[in-house]
Amino acid sequence: MQVSPEIESLIPYKPGKPIEETKRELGLTEVIKLASNENPLGPSPMAIEAIKKATLDLARYPDPTCFKLRGKLAQQWQVRADDIVIGNGSNELIDLLIRVFCEPGDKIITPQKSFVAYGVCAQAARVGKMEITIDKDFKWDVDKFLRDFKKDHNSREKILFIANPNNPTGTYLTKDEVDRLLSELGGRQDILVVFDEAYNEFVRANDFPDSAGFFKKYNNVLVVRTFSKIFGLAGLRVGALIGNAEHTQWINRVRNPFNVNTLAQEAAIAAMDDVEYLKKSQKVVWEGLDDYYQFFNEAGISYTPSQTNFVLFDSQRDGQLFFINAMRKGLLVRPMGGYGLPRHIRLSVGTPAENEKAKQTLTQVFKEVPKL
Ligand SMILES: Cc1ncc(COP(=O)(O)O)c(C=O)c1O
Repeated sequence: MQVSPEIESLIPYKPGKPIEETKRELGLTEVIKLASNENPLGPSPMAIEAIKKATLDLARYPDPTCFKLRGKLAQQWQVRADDIVIGNGSNELIDLLIRVFCEPGDKIITPQKSFVAYGVCAQAARVGKMEITIDKDFKWDVDKFLRDFKKDHNSREKILFIANPNNPTGTYLTKDEVDRLLSELGGRQDILVVFDEAYNEFVRANDFPDSAGFFKKYNNVLVVRTFSKIFGLAGLRVGALIGNAEHTQWINRVRNPFNVNTLAQEAAIAAMDDVEYLKKSQKVVWEGLDDYYQFFNEAGISYTPSQTNFVLFDSQRDGQLFFINAMRKGLLVRPMGGYGLPRHIRLSVGTPAENEKAKQTLTQVFKEVPKL
């Protein structure tokens, strides 16, 4: 059976290497994974309790509407439950947005060096990608984009995806920039503006926008969140989309009825209540980031200040070689060659003990891998 040229040339998303696989392949007994921006504290104890309780009900299909979880999120975000769709991770919601609102031959728009899943999901749906140019600091000029958009926009460009803050750079669009962007694009009928806020809870900048507010003002603004990062539930796959019911109704029509399993729904509900755990997770990340910054400053390594739970740095070396060298020493980081950044490495924040080990390993790798 032949497949389309888009499927044949599709480069799949390459996830971080799992710990067990690395141990097996390299005969290591201890491996630290700081490659996928997960919560190093593990899930909230309240989520684990809820999962244990929910196992008793596993003979039944899950609630296809995620009624309780949507109700809880609606209360927290002050929106209607009908404005929320729960997905099998936010990745599924990104995929659904493209499948529902784009047709083959349409395009999505997204800045360069942003989350790869937008392009992968688009290509799988035979949808093209238009990239917004970024500068050497990984920032993009909203005003220039708007000028170009006004000049060149055509009706086949359907969704603008903005990861805010961005993965893999850790950079963000300010409230002022989003204001300017939406003063032109907000409320239009021909394009959706999707803010992917997977790392929202780690933001420290006080000029970060309140996108739920933008969603209320403009009906073509949608927001994607995840339980994979601060909530520590990446293994269960839960994401949430806030969008006007006029859009969510179509997504609900297309999504698989039982896309979010019972354990995932119950764990997400319980995790939202564990405020202590969320605060502790923030503290670990913020202190860890500051510790990394100090380490890189002392090592003379340039990095991009981050609003997320990871930091991108320029290793000044071959990134793939850097990655392999670190892996052999039991540290998994993420090389950025796939993003067109052959020297850069993305490093997630771990527990203080993991960060300490990571710094020791990085120091060795800086010595062993020659500078370019
Ligand atoms: C910006 C961004 N969006 C979405 C996701 C996907 O998260 P999940 O599918 O686990 O909810 C990630 C994961 O790394 C991400 O970095």
